[in-house]
Amino acid sequence: MSPNEVILVMHSLLRWGVLAAGLVALIRAVLGARSKRAWSATDTGMLRAFVGLFDVQLLLGLFMYFGTSALGARMLANLGAAAMKSSVLRFFAVEHLVGMVTAAIVLHVGTARARRLGDAPARQKRTAIVVGIAFAIIFFSIPWPFFPYARPLFRFE
Ligand code: HEM
Repeated sequence: MSPNEVILVMHSLLRWGVLAAGLVALIRAVLGARSKRAWSATDTGMLRAFVGLFDVQLLLGLFMYFGTSALGARMLANLGAAAMKSSVLRFFAVEHLVGMVTAAIVLHVGTARARRLGDAPARQKRTAIVVGIAFAIIFFSIPWPFFPYARPLFRFE
């Protein structure tokens, strides 16, 4: 396996970890907001797990994009006309990249601002909104099999 194949397999499989951790953080925050429960150390741990896995996924993606991926090199070389004409190239060059960077900004800025609320129950609602928006952006920026630029659900090679 080439270095890019190894990273691509990791990037493909880690998506499930990111989505699972995101869903747990989101459900905890929604339930916490509904019951007006104070913010807890477990909430912090779950949120950190999500943001941490997401950040690792981001690093792997950027590494492929600017380093190992042949597709990444083609995208960078053809950022103008050619990449925009091919829906696959355009997806990875624009939608995937911009979507995930936007989600990263929403997640990091939003959770940092929510932290200022301390342990107040209001932090649950704020976190639910921030994680909900980031999760939706991440979900729709993934090359699911039902999109024209489909990629496998589970890649092992
Ligand atoms: C700035 C952040 C990111 C960048 C630059 C990036 C970049 C890339 C690139 C270049 C590819 C295609 C590689 C190739 O075929 O050679 C790819 C595929 C993929 N990315 Fe990302 N990515 C990012 C974040 C994410 C995140 C956060 C997720 C999911 C949580 C994700 C999920 C996927 C999936 C599922 C694939 C398809 C893998 C496969 O072919 O099996 N990416 N990404």
